[in-house]
Amino acid sequence: MGADDESPLEANRRAWDLMTPVHLDAPFYDTPAFLAGASTLKPVEVALAGEVAGLRILHLQCHFGLDSLSWARLGARVTGMDFSPAAIAAARALAGQCGIPADFKVADVQQLKTPDDPFDLVVTTYGVLCWLEDLDAWADGVRRNLRPGGRLILVDFHPVLEALHPGKMTGAMSYFPAPRAVGTWTRGSYAARDATIAYHEFRWQHTVAGVVTSLLDQGLALEAIEEYPYSSFPLFEELTHCRDGLWFSEETAAHPYMFSVAARRGTT
Ligand SMILES: C[S@@+](CC[C@H](N)C(=O)[O-])C[C@H]1O[C@@H](n2cnc3c(N)ncnc32)[C@H](O)[C@@H]1O
Repeated sequence: MGADDESPLEANRRAWDLMTPVHLDAPFYDTPAFLAGASTLKPVEVALAGEVAGLRILHLQCHFGLDSLSWARLGARVTGMDFSPAAIAAARALAGQCGIPADFKVADVQQLKTPDDPFDLVVTTYGVLCWLEDLDAWADGVRRNLRPGGRLILVDFHPVLEALHPGKMTGAMSYFPAPRAVGTWTRGSYAARDATIAYHEFRWQHTVAGVVTSLLDQGLALEAIEEYPYSSFPLFEELTHCRDGLWFSEETAAHPYMFSVAARRGTT
């Protein structure tokens, strides 16, 4: 376990370094199916992205790279970034094992460098923004990594779930952000509930309006925003039905489980 005086960022990095080897073996991620050729992408981001063959994609918070490598299998030239050295090492090993020519870099997505050759598409999906304290710094980095006319695709769990399912997401219970994130000691993970790992983790709540505003403030143009009555994994016990890898309930009233945003950098 980490020291109590660790910064939230360092505590979270330690947590993700611990989760990575557990997730590599977790049925949740089904790495053997990926190695055998299955894609880990969901229809939502695939539809938002459109044709990606030949595009340069930056995949932010790529974890150990299954989605990044799935985009590469569709013909994109992919760079995956994550702040966990363990996740990036695992992603590089998987790329080598599959013979997929993708690039993986360790980086905090709140401190992205401006690349010499910016990307056509920045993609970030499923369990990403809650780990970021500074959304404006993130949005600024997204803009600087897009070529003029390039697009961002964000798909994430809906922040209203904090209020609908109090305590089951981060424990924050409010739709609106708290003045500061409170760390929680956690055992196991969403992908391996019984895993014998324990760590301190910090999450931040961002409203849908806050996410969109951070992108508009950077001059990105909003192209589409959508909310979905299903989830990319059975996040809550009422999500008992699955179609095309998306989980929903036929018993309870539909909640917005995920949302997506597509935004474009202007031509300058
Ligand atoms: C739930 S996973 C990403 C979801 C991905 N679709 C998946 O399931 O494989 C969240 C990822 O965010 C990364 N992460 C958290 N905070 C970060 C930061 N500040 N900069 C870069 N990566 C970060 C973690 O290391 C982790 O790999």
